[in-house]
Amino acid sequence: MKSSEIRRAFIDFFAERGHLQVPSSSLIPTDPTVLLTTAGMQQMVPYFLGLERPPHTRLTSIQKCFRTVDIDEVGDESHLTFFEMLGNFSIGDYFKAEAISWAWEFLTKWLGVPPERWYPTVHPDDDFSYWYWRDKIGVPAERIFKLEDNWWGPVGATGPNGPDSEIHYDRGPEFGCGKPTCGPGCDCGRFLETWNLVFMEFYKEPDGTQRPLPRKNIDTGMGLERISLIMQGVGSVFETDLFYPILTEAATIAGVRYKEDGRVDRSLRVIADHARGVTFLVADGVFPSNEGRGYVLRRVLRRAVRHGRLLGIERPFLGQLAEIVIELFSCYYPNLVEQRERLHRVILHEEEHFQRTLATGLARFEALVDQLQHAGESIIPGDEAFRLYDTYGFPLELTEELAREVGLTVDRAGFERALERQRERSRASAGRFADRQRERAGLYAQFAERPTEFVGYERLEAEATIVGLLGITQPLEEAEAGDQVEIVLDRTPFYGEAGGQVGDTGELRSETGVVVVEETHRPTPEVIVHRGQVREGWVRVGQRVVAVVAAERRAAIRRSHTATHLVHAALRRVLGEQARQAGSLVAPDRLRFDFTHPEAVQPDQLEAIEKLVNDWIVSDAPVAVRYQPLGEALAEGAMALFGEKYGPVVRVVAIGDVSKELCGGTHVSHTGEIGYVLLTSETSVASGVRRLEALTGPAAVRRARELVDVAARSAHLLHVAVERLAEEVERMQQRLRAQERELARLAAELALERAVPLVEQAPRVDGVRVVSARLEVPSLAVLRRLGEELRERIGSGVIILGTAIENRAALLALATRDAVERGVDAGRVVERVAPLLGGRGGGRADRAEGGGGDASRLEEALAVARAEVERQLRGEATS
Ligand code: SER
Repeated sequence: MKSSEIRRAFIDFFAERGHLQVPSSSLIPTDPTVLLTTAGMQQMVPYFLGLERPPHTRLTSIQKCFRTVDIDEVGDESHLTFFEMLGNFSIGDYFKAEAISWAWEFLTKWLGVPPERWYPTVHPDDDFSYWYWRDKIGVPAERIFKLEDNWWGPVGATGPNGPDSEIHYDRGPEFGCGKPTCGPGCDCGRFLETWNLVFMEFYKEPDGTQRPLPRKNIDTGMGLERISLIMQGVGSVFETDLFYPILTEAATIAGVRYKEDGRVDRSLRVIADHARGVTFLVADGVFPSNEGRGYVLRRVLRRAVRHGRLLGIERPFLGQLAEIVIELFSCYYPNLVEQRERLHRVILHEEEHFQRTLATGLARFEALVDQLQHAGESIIPGDEAFRLYDTYGFPLELTEELAREVGLTVDRAGFERALERQRERSRASAGRFADRQRERAGLYAQFAERPTEFVGYERLEAEATIVGLLGITQPLEEAEAGDQVEIVLDRTPFYGEAGGQVGDTGELRSETGVVVVEETHRPTPEVIVHRGQVREGWVRVGQRVVAVVAAERRAAIRRSHTATHLVHAALRRVLGEQARQAGSLVAPDRLRFDFTHPEAVQPDQLEAIEKLVNDWIVSDAPVAVRYQPLGEALAEGAMALFGEKYGPVVRVVAIGDVSKELCGGTHVSHTGEIGYVLLTSETSVASGVRRLEALTGPAAVRRARELVDVAARSAHLLHVAVERLAEEVERMQQRLRAQERELARLAAELALERAVPLVEQAPRVDGVRVVSARLEVPSLAVLRRLGEELRERIGSGVIILGTAIENRAALLALATRDAVERGVDAGRVVERVAPLLGGRGGGRADRAEGGGGDASRLEEALAVARAEVERQLRGEATS
């Protein structure tokens, strides 16, 4: 039975039993956290979880799948990367009994495989399935196996899963190991797991708990390759009609034959499997790259090329095999034909790329192996593996395979470290466009003669041709995934930053690659340059691209731009005609407007401006764009920017009868689209120039909501109505200030009480009391008051006080008049001591202050100060 007949029979069988056939989903899953589609049930997950309504409760499909776990194993007789899964699904409809009965009926009646060939397995706790197989289907108990392994899912850490029942095919004792324990689950190859019936009843939560699903579901999957092997009675999947034509084509290209030499066979199988995988991956939109699914593609493609070389093939050959794949599979997967051209281009490019370095890379590898073996080493250093990767394009796994073949291993951790170092280097260089802006100017000169046609007023998507590709320092012919580039197109819908309006972002998609545009600018007024990074695949000069502007962001910019014109018009009405635009920034959701005005705009003026703008928004005035001669536009009163150069014909943007400006920017078509404008600040930028900032559209609404919430929360905390909030805060501030004053007074009193004894006990130096003490006071004001207070009490003497307030040290020195007459100079004392505290100070002979940031030396400073006073009293000069 041909594989095409098996496919047909399967679908017919389940259609007769009320199943609706759904198409295979793409190999690129919709769930962004999943690398590739690995099972038919993936597209059913939202139905299993009850999140979406299925088109029908019984579904069936033939799903293309790609599994990466076994890539390195591929080459033996059973492991595969790409395969097709035949499945039937019940979304809360039938359950175990029907799933088992139908599988059995299909295998034994429709396909006519003798019943004694089949061995079901069940989960040890699943008594129902065991009973059903034995008593209802009639499989003898000795052919039913209970295996702990019979549990399937989830895909990833969380998701639907459940016990399963597998149906294994017995290929016969001649394929087996002969051990008494041999049975389904033994890896000797006698038993072939053919069909898996999963009873999806649980959902695994992130914390590991199993929650029952809202309904019980069925998910089954049968490998088309395996059932074809059985039905075609061949020795391995590679001899079925799903592989053999590809394998023999590869053999013909290489001039070898299958089944003559084990090593050759292995390479042929690698090539046959990988040719299928590569073709399907590329057709579903994957590009070779160094990351994610692009890396999976690169890995299998390069591995196939390497095995081609082992067979002596030195020219590109995978395109030829892709043709066979297209021929074999396009009736089921029509996108293979649609993508034919692209398939050839992408495959050939990657193949040629790798072919160029493969031979030298292999030579390098061999030299390395020699060297290591001579030195008695058995591990390939990470740096060397990285060099093979970086310079010769060897995926790490390829180096590992090569190493295994000669009995070596690779230092994987060392490789990862080297890779990380390289990533850091490229991160560090990512900003280099800006650093090199000056020397880049020369690169742009070549485009000066070819103005870019801007088509972005009318649409956000356009086809165009790449006319220039620039790297950081030189023009390029081609750039590939990861490269930073600047791209010039013959025409573009991307707005290049100008007139205050920021440039667009978006994507450029060619047949072979995708570039993410992060910024669009104009090195000269006529040339538009898209700056960004190749995300997937590659692009080259001369290629056609579809240029797609990020639409939501552009819409937000349009709102801001029209809002800017409204703010300008409102300003002039409220502040007078002398308020002239001096600059602006038009960005998504926000704007900044600089204008000449001699003084701060008053709150009531701001309110009036904002009200005018929002009234115009509500009036939903039309925005009209016209081209007319400059003189005519100016005569009609259109506003022009002072100092700006305009051509003979200008673009005039008129908003109802509110505003008319010369402007090249993008605007909404009616002011109502702006939604709302909220002024957020008014500041000064230079003398005579003020700046208004505003939010627009949804961002303005969000901000207003936040402010309302803050006000409501604060009012609630203070137990007043929102309207009385400001008044209440003012009242509280007054109360707080009064309390602070009172507190300071009390603190001073307390400090004084403690300080008085200091005066009384102060030792005298030649009859003059000298007080030098550290006090804890809340503020400098208190320290000062305290000082005065003590000076009065001391009658005759010197008072030096130190304190630490929030880690800063403060010193105060006071002397009575007679002490000054005896030679004391408070100013000099402080001047001398303050540096100890890391600061400065000084003052008059009777009163001085100082301090510094280092409070830890306060005691020392006080001691030095006292010594200084004593010296002064003794009439000694300071050294
Ligand atoms: N999800 C199960 C599997 O992949 C049955 O389809 O084996």
